[in-house]
Amino acid sequence: MKGVKILSTGYYLPEKILTNADLEKMVDTSDEWITTRTGIKERHIAADGEAVSDMAEKAASQAVERAGISKNDIGLIITATFTPDYPLPSASCLIGEKMGIKNVQMFDISAACTGFIYALSVAQSMIKAGISKTALVIAAEKLTAYTDWADRGSCILFSDGAGAVVLSESDEDSFLGFDFGADGSFRKLLYVPAGGSLNPPTAETVKNRQHFIKMEGNKTFKVAVSRMNSTAKKALDKAGVSAEDIELLIPHQANIRIIEALARALKFSMEKVFVNIDKVGNCSAATIPVALAQADQAGRLKRGDLMELVAFGGGFTWGAAVIRY
Ligand code: ACO
Repeated sequence: MKGVKILSTGYYLPEKILTNADLEKMVDTSDEWITTRTGIKERHIAADGEAVSDMAEKAASQAVERAGISKNDIGLIITATFTPDYPLPSASCLIGEKMGIKNVQMFDISAACTGFIYALSVAQSMIKAGISKTALVIAAEKLTAYTDWADRGSCILFSDGAGAVVLSESDEDSFLGFDFGADGSFRKLLYVPAGGSLNPPTAETVKNRQHFIKMEGNKTFKVAVSRMNSTAKKALDKAGVSAEDIELLIPHQANIRIIEALARALKFSMEKVFVNIDKVGNCSAATIPVALAQADQAGRLKRGDLMELVAFGGGFTWGAAVIRY
């Protein structure tokens, strides 16, 4: 069986920054509350008219350039997002069009914050199955389009951004172990009630603010800690390695308290955990590839290092991957 490796990383964060001080002027909150409860100090926000496909194209083009390959070598584009430019067509088709790529498979995956790890597992399986030799795996979100700026319990968390990797067939396999799960019975703890086919947009749904993300933060927090812990452990077992073998843990950046609880439970020192939540916030599926690209580009991740990715999000969905870089 062929192996698959990550050739390169790329990311893009919008220029505009929203600080906790800015949020203090928008809702009844404080820098002190947001910092101690979430670890976030500031977050990047897309400009008006800046689409998910615009951010994704920048991250993906950077990854293709860093891979030293031609865009014509890309045989598959998968984008993890639940905030595509349009319900139809997919973000991937728009990204492909912006990059000048045609006539290859392009489709999206919707698994909220776990989307990038889901997309990685699908792309590497497709390469191993011989369907494609090279894949662009992207995660891009414009969460601020679905953020209720009057809901202090959620608006302080969300941000926008995009990250990408190029995968290629290889003699060695980087993907040592995956673990995944999902449970739709939790769907109403984190969801957007209207705008889909069940409740199409009406004046009433707009008036009732049903197009924004609704989240029961405290209940979500508890399930996130337990599922991230168990999925991270299962992926280590499936890869046949232990936490001591891992050079870098890259968790979904939802809340610093979730990340610290996870590190404690898995017995990782915080020096081995990548954290950028203070400056990036929670951009859902994009948080992990943005963090991965930042770690790579800052020299915190070297070829041959073992890393573990772990995420949790709406659905609920969760998953982890052990990867040799
Ligand atoms: N500023 C000040 N006070 C606030 C704020 C705020 N921004 N938000 C809530 N509060 C208040 C509440 O009203 C409550 O007050 P009360 O005790 O008088 O009722 C108090 O603070 C505590 O509220 P909790 O909701 O219990 O606060 P908690 O410590 O749980 O923090 C948070 C809230 C940050 C949302 C946390 O629960 C969290 O991070 N949850 C997990 C989020 C997550 O992982 N989501 C999944 C991924 S995201 C995705 O898939 C898109």
